[in-house]
This record gives sequence, C-alpha cells and structure tokens, in this order.
Amino acid sequence: MKNPLPLYEQVAEKVEKLIRSGTLRPGDRVPSVRRACKQHGVSLTTVVRAYLHLEDRGLIEARPKSGFFVRPKLRDQVAEPLISRPQPAAREVDVGSLQARIFAAARRTDVVPLGAGYPGAAILPVTKLGRIMASVARNAGASGVHYDMPPGSIRLRREIAKRALDRHLDLTPEEILTTCGGTEALALCLRAVTSPGDVVIVEAPTYFGVLQQIEELGLKALEIPMHPQKGMSLDALEQALKRRRIAACLSVTNFSNPLGSLMPDEDKRRLVEILARWDVPLIEDDINGGLYHRGDRPRVAKSYDDEGRVLLCGSFSKTLAPGYRVGWVVPGRYLEKVKALKLTSTLATGSLPQLAIAEFMANGGYDHHLRSLRRHFAEQIERMSEAVIEAFPPEIKLTRPAGGFLLWIELPRTVSALELHERAMAEKISIAPGPMFSASQGFQNFIRLNCGHPWSADLERAIGTLGRLVRELSSSGSA
Ligand SMILES: Cc1ncc(COP(=O)(O)O)c(C=O)c1O
Repeated sequence: MKNPLPLYEQVAEKVEKLIRSGTLRPGDRVPSVRRACKQHGVSLTTVVRAYLHLEDRGLIEARPKSGFFVRPKLRDQVAEPLISRPQPAAREVDVGSLQARIFAAARRTDVVPLGAGYPGAAILPVTKLGRIMASVARNAGASGVHYDMPPGSIRLRREIAKRALDRHLDLTPEEILTTCGGTEALALCLRAVTSPGDVVIVEAPTYFGVLQQIEELGLKALEIPMHPQKGMSLDALEQALKRRRIAACLSVTNFSNPLGSLMPDEDKRRLVEILARWDVPLIEDDINGGLYHRGDRPRVAKSYDDEGRVLLCGSFSKTLAPGYRVGWVVPGRYLEKVKALKLTSTLATGSLPQLAIAEFMANGGYDHHLRSLRRHFAEQIERMSEAVIEAFPPEIKLTRPAGGFLLWIELPRTVSALELHERAMAEKISIAPGPMFSASQGFQNFIRLNCGHPWSADLERAIGTLGRLVRELSSSGSA
C-alpha cells in the first residue's frame, strides 16, 4: 500500500524513529544532508525539508557550519521528585469517597484519558485476541461454560509457569492460582494474612486500589518513604518493623504505580531477608514487571524467598486485556488459605478469558506483542515528558521511569491537584490527582499521567491545556 505521507515526512519519521529508539542519542550528529539523500534515495530538498520539520518539532537542532544534531533531552534538565516523606504513624484509611468521585469522571468517554492507568485499546491486540476468543469459544464445548474451579485453567497456569524463569523464578503450575485480575489476587492475599485492625506497610505513594482494600478490610496503613528510582526505603521499613507489629508488607517492586520506581536486585534480596527476620509476609505485586523499557525483565523479590513467605501477584490487565479480568497469584505457604478464600470471593475465574489468554501466550505471538508494547511505552513516556516540560511551569519535577507507562509530576507547591482535576475535567481532560495515592491524603500538589495511549494531536493539545491550567493555578495560589 502506498504511504500516504509526503516524502519529506516519511524521511522525518525514519529519523525520528532512530532518535526515539535511542540509536541516535542526544548530541549525536544526524547523517549529513548528502548522506541522507543516498540513504533514503530522495532529493536534497526533501532531506532539508525533513530536517527542518524535525527542527520545528524540537527533535534536532542546526549548528552553524556543523550540520544537524539531536537536541539534548529536556527531561534530563528537569529534576525528579525527592524521596517521599509520609507521616510515620499507622492510620485508618479513608480514600473511598475521593476515588469514587474520580472513577465516575473516568467513565466518561468524551474526555482525553490521562487519568485511569491502563493501556489504550489502539496498542492492544484487540482483533487478534478477539479472533482467538471466538475460536476458543467455538471449540471449548462444556468447559467454556462451566465453572473453572480454583486453582483455575491448567493451560493458563502452564503458560505462566513457563515464563516464570524470566523473573528468575522456578515455578510449577500447582503453585499458581488464577484470579479475577490483579485486584482479586491482592485482595485474597491481604485477607489471607491479616485480620481487621492489623497494620500493613504500603508504599507512599501507592496504587490506590490497595488503599481501598485496606479501608474495606478495616486495616491500618503505615506508609513508607519511596525513592523515585529505587522504590521503598528499606531503612525506614526496618525502623517501622522495630516499632510495632506489622501483619504484611505490600510492594510493587518493579515499576511501581505511580512512581515507576524499580527496586534494585540487592534491595529485593534485603527486603525478603528483613521481612523474614520479623516473620512478615510480603505481598509482591508484579503487574508491571514485563513493561521494562530497556535490557531484560527485572527479577522479583520472590526469587529470593526460600520459605514461601512472599505472595506474588500478576495480571494481564497492563499487557493484554484489562476487561478480561484475568490475574494470578503464587501464594507460597498461604496457598491453601488463598484457595479457600477464592471460593468465597468469586468462586471461579471466567473460563473463556483464561483459555483465550493461554492460547495467545502459547501461539498468538505474545512475546512479539510485549516487545512492541514496551517500545511504545518507552517512546510515549519520552514524548509526554518533553511535552509536559514544554507546557508546564519550569519548577515542576518529573519521574524518569525505566518501565511502565505512568508519569508522576510534582507541581508548584501552591497548586492543588484536586482543583486541577476539577478544572481539567471542565476542559474534558482526566488526570489522577496525587491524594488518591496516599493513605493520608498527601501528595496534594502531585498528579499522575497515563502515557499508555498512542500520541495524537488531542493528547498534545490536552498537555498544552493542562500546562496553562497549572500556570493559572500557580499564579493564583501564590497571589
Ligand atoms: C500496581 C497495580 N496493581 C494491581 C492493579 C489491578 O489490576 P487488575 O486490573 O488486573 O485488577 C493495578 C491496576 O491499575 C495496578 O496498577
């Protein structure tokens, strides 16, 4: 099929890909105009137009008498948020009403969806998965309509076990239980290891879904400082364990939500050791581990656990189909308890979605899909960061996640993220305000943006509008 773009835009697109993939790095000289003519088989005028187009878009810059160079990344000039400083006391959680308000906004289909944290359908294998689902439904017979009692589909558990080695884990299907998404996996783990009134350790900031669960189970949350790159402060964790009895520790060790932090292997080992000393179970949420931007899949803390004290949770919501509601848990020594709780929670996980995902993993090109998803997220994070830095006031701080598709932004101190949320909704843009991610309604001047949708003119405009709103709020707040 003929490429509908003008020739110069096609050349610009190819050079842009080299920049976004890191093949051409900031400060590198891009091929000279003459060389590019030969490389692309186009005229001098076309290459010059392509380079001027890239210059207009801020990707390259001309240097007198030297040619064109990849522009230094704006995001390298912006600081990251500092390590968080939550209140050191355990507290009852009251986040449900705020979250209900924000979820209601997220249901609207006429907004630019920067709030909810899931990948856009345009980058998920919707058609292929749909075809597989249809074929599975045709062929499954009775097993497609009957309960698939715990531990759930053996085909799916086999596929999960096969890939466990990527996480440095040696697993058998018998150790795995399938669940209705990561949400149920986390809920079952929490119920298995806590009783109402217990204190559980959470990250600050953390994924709001676990805060809601903690609230509903009548637990108390003790927030631990988070480093934007390395995740949970283990020194703070040790201090907390010395001070009081803790029933469980929750951690998203790989590409936490919302920070995108990645706990180094040495810290994962130490985390497991520290918790073993106090005999505290670790509920490790590895929903984002497959979304690394470079290198290899990070290992999980569970890979250092010889005693079954780590309950590892996963899901297909961030990689394949959030609406299929399929997740899993490896509960270690709590397997029987978790299996029993699953019966009273949802009895069984949907049969057909499990079979479709198992088939996609076995024969559908799952690994190929993951590779392109990771590339997409890495590029989107870069693009969104640059757009935010261009549009927002210069004093913002921004995370630099090495995986996942979330950006966490610290706004000027005078800006209320909740007010920004209201004003952005009036402009049909959804964002996730910082207090959602805190047991103590902290992070009042932080927001999380979802970079999981393909880049578009609407997105670019939305970032421009958010930038304007932040500037307005910051000047009215400081007046
Ligand atoms: C860190 C984390 N854990 C768990 C979940 C819930 O996953 P699921 O949609 O599979 O229930 C999410 C969803 O946003 C998440 O970000």
